[in-house]
Amino acid sequence: MSSIDSLLHEDRRFPPSPEFAADAVAKSDLYGQASADRLGFWADRARELLHWHTPFTQTLDWSAPPVARWFADGELNVAYNCLDRHVADGHGDRVAYHWEGEPGDTRTLTYAELTAEVKRAANVLAGLGIRAGDRVAIYLPMIPEAIVAMLAVARLGAVHSVVFGGFSADSLRTRIDDAEAKLVITADGGYRKGKVFPLKPTVDESLADGRSTVEHVLVVRRGGNEVAWTEGRDLWWHDTVATASDEHEAEAFPAENPLFILYTSGTTGKPKGILHTSGGYLTHVAYTHRNVFDLHPERDVYWSTADVGWVTGHSYVVYGPLANGATSVIYEGTPDTPHPGRWWELVQKYGVTILYAAPTAIRTFMKIGRQEPQKWDLSSLRLLGSVGEPINPEAWVWYRDIIGGGTTPIVDTWWQTETGGIMISALPGITTLKPGSAQVPLPGVSVEVLGEDGQPVGNGQGGLLVVTEPWPGMLRGIWRDEQRFRETYWERFADAPDGPLYFAGDGARRDADGDIWLLGRVDDVMNVSGHRLSTAEIESALVSHPWVAESAVVGARDETTGQAVVAFVIVKASQAEVATASEAAEVLRAHVSQQIGAIARPRQIFVVTELPKTRSGKIMRRLLRDVAEGRELGDTTTLTDAGVMQVITDRLR
Ligand code: PRX
Repeated sequence: MSSIDSLLHEDRRFPPSPEFAADAVAKSDLYGQASADRLGFWADRARELLHWHTPFTQTLDWSAPPVARWFADGELNVAYNCLDRHVADGHGDRVAYHWEGEPGDTRTLTYAELTAEVKRAANVLAGLGIRAGDRVAIYLPMIPEAIVAMLAVARLGAVHSVVFGGFSADSLRTRIDDAEAKLVITADGGYRKGKVFPLKPTVDESLADGRSTVEHVLVVRRGGNEVAWTEGRDLWWHDTVATASDEHEAEAFPAENPLFILYTSGTTGKPKGILHTSGGYLTHVAYTHRNVFDLHPERDVYWSTADVGWVTGHSYVVYGPLANGATSVIYEGTPDTPHPGRWWELVQKYGVTILYAAPTAIRTFMKIGRQEPQKWDLSSLRLLGSVGEPINPEAWVWYRDIIGGGTTPIVDTWWQTETGGIMISALPGITTLKPGSAQVPLPGVSVEVLGEDGQPVGNGQGGLLVVTEPWPGMLRGIWRDEQRFRETYWERFADAPDGPLYFAGDGARRDADGDIWLLGRVDDVMNVSGHRLSTAEIESALVSHPWVAESAVVGARDETTGQAVVAFVIVKASQAEVATASEAAEVLRAHVSQQIGAIARPRQIFVVTELPKTRSGKIMRRLLRDVAEGRELGDTTTLTDAGVMQVITDRLR
């Protein structure tokens, strides 16, 4: 990224205010404790933050890397930790979630109410034959039932696979098949941009051949849209959960019992089922949520704007906040419905104190202008967070000034679906903040920036980001694909003297102080609005269309979304008579959306006569990126034919 040099000259510094520091959850001795005894530090966190039905005696088993086992002889119930124990501690009346539907309907769930609802749902799931280890797919809008469903599955020791509601029937089916899910929990539909978008019809379509592993579909009524019904397979939530018993005792499961699978894009067309387990994951997310967000559960109102379909929704909407007994806001719809100040209206309405959002959203608000947030009282906010992609210093400073009233700390948190929880971030009240940099690994986390030769780079140098020691929230594997797990993350630096290092797939640079700046992915994974998309997956969706002979996809820089999907396609000669280039582009954009989901729809499709290839036949993505970003073509000397980048603008022939 060429702009990094100018970024590194960013010299604005924001030291913590003495008032914030005095009351901060995180104390600077955390760093000292963690470096003196890293494993002891994590064991203390696990004991301090969680309830163990059976206390553990071993902290980490790393005898067979890259397979890690944390707190393995301990037993706990994840849902009990998120619910029952808070009620038992006298916090049953505390609000767990203030939910706001997009049309403006609301629901408030206290810890006691949420606990009762999860127990009812757990009884229904158990009645449908869901047992420890079984997989349940969840395909829901951002409604409280999404969280209830996750926790009910967790309570039974079963494994959830949440599939983002924007994914297509094909994408859903691929995930159902890979995990062999027995049950799908969905809704008739949900609200988005003022309209109901159907979900149950997509589930029906994905199961239409009748040959999946799914035995039942449990349906929440939300959109009120008409749905087809398969007798014997389909059940309404309100006919079953609402009338079930709210007596349900949480059973203890081993700390390494699988908790969830979450699919994410890799460098091939097939998504990876990232597997997380229970005790280590919950320790990691509870610890990071409390310290990074400076959570005072008795008085804070916390809002992470992520959807439960992504890892941020798992770790920092559901598990971290609930383990800590936090009060959260959740919102069903889009930020601009029915007006562009909807988020700020909600901050004012609920008195939100901590807001966690993606840079894409911040940049969109910047574009709309400060007049929208300035219509609302945002003075309750005292801490802001950023996640999903690098936040440029301009957006960082705008976020602090306009949303944070010029005073709030901002934590720029680097992590991944695979890491389970936050790994690199400032700690508010301790760290002097630098706009644009994720800065330092958290106490207990060890990262390094390595050169191609595997040696740490010095300050002022760039390289590849690795995690050098196992951490409790780390992925335990790729679902049923151990070889891919080893190859993707552990092979690049397999021969390090103290065991294999985890390669994150990100480039990073250390500045003169040694602080870390993230530079984006170094593989064929794109980051669009903080969501990961695979170039290969979109290319294969494009070539599945009968018109397409060949395709290449790149992530092009985009002012708002970070990167945008740009595709280059060669259309078959037989289609030349029936469509113009712009018609073909339109049809193909819709096709990708239908195959994968609207998030993957290319921003632009260029119809070309040939793709630039090296003499060995490799597509030169660098050149395609130049075109997509509107630059002069870079070095073309290795091309077979320097004239190939002719873009068809009108008739195909
Ligand atoms: O490239 C990094 C980027 O998002 C990737 C992880 O994507 P995903 O698994 O979908 O999880 C997103 C939410 C945690 C990383 O490999 N990324 C995430 N956070 C940051 C970031 N890049 C720069 N700065 C961040 N704070």
